[in-house]
Amino acid sequence: MNTQERIDPWGSEGFGDYEKLIAEFGMESLSPFKKDLSDNLLFRRNIIFGHRDFGKILDAIKHKKPYAMMTGLMPSGKFHLGHKMVADEIIWHQKKGADVFVCAADLEAYLMRDITLSEAKKIAVEEYVANYIALGLDMRKVHFWFQTDYETPYYRFRDTLSHRTTFNEMKAIYGTLSPEKIFSVITQAADILHPQLPEYGGPRPTVVPVGADQDPHIRLTRDIAGRHKEHSLIPPSATYHKFMPGLLGGKMSSSNPKSHIALTDSPKEAKKKVLAAFSGGGVTVEEHKKNGGNPEVDVACQYLFYGFEEDDRKVIKIFEDYRAGTLMTGEVKKLLADKVAAFLEAHQAKYPEALREAKEIVKK
Ligand code: TRP
Repeated sequence: MNTQERIDPWGSEGFGDYEKLIAEFGMESLSPFKKDLSDNLLFRRNIIFGHRDFGKILDAIKHKKPYAMMTGLMPSGKFHLGHKMVADEIIWHQKKGADVFVCAADLEAYLMRDITLSEAKKIAVEEYVANYIALGLDMRKVHFWFQTDYETPYYRFRDTLSHRTTFNEMKAIYGTLSPEKIFSVITQAADILHPQLPEYGGPRPTVVPVGADQDPHIRLTRDIAGRHKEHSLIPPSATYHKFMPGLLGGKMSSSNPKSHIALTDSPKEAKKKVLAAFSGGGVTVEEHKKNGGNPEVDVACQYLFYGFEEDDRKVIKIFEDYRAGTLMTGEVKKLLADKVAAFLEAHQAKYPEALREAKEIVKK
C-alpha cells in the first residue's frame, strides 16, 4: 500500500474504486462466500462487496452458533435511503440469530461534527431508532446505548483500551491526530469489543457491518483485541458496503436534502426528487435511442439495483434495455418514482407507532 494514501473516516470524499480497497487495503472479496449468501440482495449484488474475517460469522450462522453483530449510527441528520440499507443489514443479522448491539455515536457526533449531545439524542431516537423499528428491527432485543450514557463495565473497559496502543500506529492509520480523534477512535474500539466482555455475553465472533470508510477503525480494533489477553477477545469481523449514489450523482449526504430521499419525505416530494435525479441517458430522446444510456451512473437505474427492484432478472433486463436505448430515462424514473412513493407511504404509516416505541425503549 502507498503509505501516503489513507482512508479518512471523517473525510468528505466518497469511493469510486472498491476494487482498489480490496487490492491495496487488504479487504477481502466476498465472492467465495456468494453461494451461501444468496438470500440477501445486498450480498448477491455485490453491494456488500468486501469483508475481513467473515468466514467465522458464516460458520456461526451455518451451525447456529452464537455470534454478535455490532454497529454504530452517527446521529447527524436525516435518515435516508443509504441508512435504510444498513438497517436492512442489521435486520438480516437479527433474523440469522445474531445478538445485536447498536450504539448511537453521540460522543463522536459532538467531538467530530460539533453537534450538541441533546441534538444528537433527538436525532438518534426520532430519525434512527424509530425508522429501524418501522423497517422491522426488533429493538426490544437489541442492546442499544449512547456513547455518553451507558454502563460502568463499558466505561471501565474503554478507559483501559488506550493502554498498549501507540501514537505512531494511530498516526499511520489516521494521519493527523487530535485529542478528539483519539477519543472517538478508542470509544469506537470499545463499542466493537465490549460485547465480548463477560457482562455482555463473553467472547464470541462479532461482525461489524459498515461503510468502507470505517475500515481504519476495524483494522485498529482488530490489532488491539489481541493485546488485552485478560479478556480473550476474538478480533472482530467486518463487512463493507458500497455507498448509494446521491440523487445528483455525487455523494449522498444527510445534511443536503437535494442529495437524498429521507424516510420522512412525503411520497410526492420523493417522486419529484426522483424525476430530477441525475440521468445517465442520452441528452435527447433521439440520441438515447441511437447510443443508449449508462445504467452504472444513472441514479434511477442504480436505486432499482440497490433494492427497489427485488427481482434480479428484472434489474438485468432494465440495465440491458437502458444500455440498448430501448428503455428511456423518463420510463426508468417513473418506474422508480412509483416504487419509492409506495414504499414511503407504507413506511410512514408505521412510523408514529414506531416512534412511540423508540421513545419508550430509549427512556428505560
Ligand atoms: N464512526 C461511525 C460513523 O461515523 C459510528 C460508530 C461509532 C460505529 N461506533 C461504532 C460504527 C462502532 C461501527 C461500529 O458512522
